[in-house]
Amino acid sequence: MPLSDGFLQELKDRNDITEVASSYVSLKRRGRNMVGLCPFHGEKTPSFNIYTENGSFYCFGCGVGGDVISFVMRIENLDYIDAVKWLAQRAGMNMPEDGYDNSMSDLRKRIFEANREAARFYYNNLYSKNGRIGLDYFHGRMLSDRTIRHFGLGFADNDRHSLCRHLWSLGFKSSEIVAANLSYQNENSISDRFNNRVMFPIIDLRGNVIAFGGRIMTDAKPKYLNTSDTPVFKKSSNLFSLNNAKNSGERKLILCEGYMDVIAVNQAGFQNAVATLGTALTSEQALLMKRYADEVIICYDSDEAGQKATQKAINLLRNAGLLVKVITIPEGKDPDEFLRTKGNKGHDAFKNVIENSGNDVEYRLQKLRNTYDILTAEGRVAYLTEAARILAALDNPIERDVYISKLSKEAEVSADAIKQQIQKQSRSRFYERRKKEFKAIRDNLSGRGDRVNTEHYKKPRATVAEEGVIAYLVKNPDKLGKINSRLSPEKFQTEFNRKLFEYFSERIKNSEDALSAVSADFTQDEISKIYQIINSESARMANEKTLFENINILNDEFSGLDASDAGAASIDSIEAELRRLKEKHQ
Ligand code: CTP
Ligand code: MN
Repeated sequence: MPLSDGFLQELKDRNDITEVASSYVSLKRRGRNMVGLCPFHGEKTPSFNIYTENGSFYCFGCGVGGDVISFVMRIENLDYIDAVKWLAQRAGMNMPEDGYDNSMSDLRKRIFEANREAARFYYNNLYSKNGRIGLDYFHGRMLSDRTIRHFGLGFADNDRHSLCRHLWSLGFKSSEIVAANLSYQNENSISDRFNNRVMFPIIDLRGNVIAFGGRIMTDAKPKYLNTSDTPVFKKSSNLFSLNNAKNSGERKLILCEGYMDVIAVNQAGFQNAVATLGTALTSEQALLMKRYADEVIICYDSDEAGQKATQKAINLLRNAGLLVKVITIPEGKDPDEFLRTKGNKGHDAFKNVIENSGNDVEYRLQKLRNTYDILTAEGRVAYLTEAARILAALDNPIERDVYISKLSKEAEVSADAIKQQIQKQSRSRFYERRKKEFKAIRDNLSGRGDRVNTEHYKKPRATVAEEGVIAYLVKNPDKLGKINSRLSPEKFQTEFNRKLFEYFSERIKNSEDALSAVSADFTQDEISKIYQIINSESARMANEKTLFENINILNDEFSGLDASDAGAASIDSIEAELRRLKEKHQ
């Protein structure tokens, strides 16, 4: 049995989506709606809309949409029931005693508890006789006991069952320990995942221990072993030490490559360091950083891999709307090695490095300069051409001008010539972008871009008419009888829309709110699609006349009378798209 409609409606009433969203997105009023920069993809002009009339959101840029529950699921990385609990707590409401499947939520809770106990166990081990070797390792790497405690570092000993035994004694079931990935299943028993490694707990923004990284103390491989993805952990959407860094009091983060770097940088007095968890930076992580920072200083290793990763990270961070700086550690060291050589002068030395860090543009130009010989004519031309490409990507004309005059002095070429080259590059960038945008719109209209309704492109005219009917029904549930008397579900040509039509009709028949359980009953992509349908321009302009037109189209198509594509309905949506495009380019 699902959560009752009454409970869900109250939950939504008491958690206004504008209020909830505005602690993550800065919103401005536009007409009846609110708009802002989308928190789910990087963008510079706002396409994230909140529709106050029906309590939902939709982003035209990335196609993500939903109600307040889906919003919390996405932004807080929670499953459905945990998002509902989160909102209930926010509004001071009690969860109903039953009426929902709590098993996943319960399992997640047990995993958090098992992880916390494991972290405690590893930490205590470190200061026991068995853990001496681990403690010596950390001390050897110049970590103080204070730092060790602060990060809750630990030691997993050589006994393949010691953690299991400990967790069993505390009442954890083997299935829970395995689900936490603290142990793995053998033929007839389970064994600890981490052995003979020093341990780094990974803690989320709510203070839960969600995973571990374990480093071997020799040169053996793999150097690090990390928790695999579990019901509470996805490595691509978390950052090491963000829980700690977010309290630094400045909206600035230092992005390092590894655990040891973050810890060493912290020990030197910089709380705002974070690192990815054994993978390259993702756009999800960049957007997560954007929630706590305006500026990110990339501080990767100076080896080739580190430099490649830096170029990629620059793009991701810029796209997320962050200011980017790049630190190059002197003498080809990583931050941890650098700080170790500086001893107690680490803080000042590192501060100096930060203060001398260039921004991403300077970094890229510097890299270019190193690849070309600007003493030769060809080298200079190639250098300036590439440099123009970098500068063409800058939005800020003042920023551009600064670099133009720098380049002009450096390469002894007139600023005008550089400007012209940049203009050429910007023009082609502009056309490329526009071509892409138009292609996206074409794909959208033809249905080729529709990932959810995969029959859309085969039946574009019917699909648009179906969506019109669905949107109208959701907005005007009292018209269900009228619609039913003129249109039956089998007239729907696409299966997804037929399913939606039946679903909403059924709810309305049962006197339930059409939308209140969408977040429980559909996948995230489907939810986005539903809110795209409901909030589309044509849906909001819909009236009884357009409803009847859409019903006629479906009846026609069903009886095979008119199979042509460009009917009245699609012209409607083409116009809506063009209006939107015009607005965007104003
Ligand atoms: N990493 C990993 N698995 C590996 C190697 C590395 O998950 N087999 C991840 C870890 O998160 C590690 C980061 O990549 O912290 C950076 O790797 P590396 O620079 O090799 O390690 P350091 O953190 O610098 O550790 P150390 O200084 O102890 O060598
Ligand atoms: Mn290192």
